[in-house]
Amino acid sequence: MSNDRPIGVFDSGIGGLTVAAAIQRLLPSESLIYFGDTAHLPYGDKSKELIAEYAVNITRFLLEEKKCKAIVIACNTASAAAYEALRDTYKGSVPVINVIDPMIEEVIADADIKKIGIIATKTTVSSGVYQEKFARRKPELEFSALATPLLASMIEEGFYNNTISEAILNEYLSNPVLENIDGLVLACTHYPLIKKEIDAFFHGRVKIFDSAEVVARKLKGILEKESLLCTSSVSKNEFFVSDYTRAFEAATKIFFKKEIHLELCRL
Ligand code: DGL
Repeated sequence: MSNDRPIGVFDSGIGGLTVAAAIQRLLPSESLIYFGDTAHLPYGDKSKELIAEYAVNITRFLLEEKKCKAIVIACNTASAAAYEALRDTYKGSVPVINVIDPMIEEVIADADIKKIGIIATKTTVSSGVYQEKFARRKPELEFSALATPLLASMIEEGFYNNTISEAILNEYLSNPVLENIDGLVLACTHYPLIKKEIDAFFHGRVKIFDSAEVVARKLKGILEKESLLCTSSVSKNEFFVSDYTRAFEAATKIFFKKEIHLELCRL
């Protein structure tokens, strides 16, 4: 099994590009295959069963057709809905990394955080996965979660750093459940695109946790441990979408600083 095989990364749309770009910065010689499931976007208001079905199909494509050596579920909603099933299916063959566990580790290691808030899609919040993992690992940590269902679609449509995103964020972030938090987890991979606006809302008083770098570091550790780091210095990235959208093309340019060819792939 060659270590020069690519790493498969997927999300419902552009959100996972925040993770893919962080992987690329940390592991520049690795090749990536990115799959944006734009035909089924947003994942955040769909049932766990349906999201799990999408995640299984994408993973099969990345492993069977694209021969990936590791899978990064660059989406909180899909991590909440499908991680355990994917991990168990591929145990012993390829590592499957989710975006939730590395973030839990990051937050619990921070002694200054006494009350943590998360903002996420409806499906992630209702799965209770963050709450359950924090409670198990650090029971004294206070926890609150807020579903912010408009944000992923707003970002996907290119509405960020403008008056519309500011008004929507003000409405969500003034919710009393987020009162007195010391830290806020951006528990949706789309949200790093509005991190500055969120930070500005809290006037820098709340530590904002975004998973992109954390997940990239976790992946590097796993590839090292499993002796899977690539040996060639020529990396090649490929981008697939299940439906072509202009937002996706624009976002790939922002993250990868060059024109990216998008391939349409209906699964
Ligand atoms: N980026 C995804 C996440 O991390 C979901 C956005 C969506 O499709 O609703 O949860």
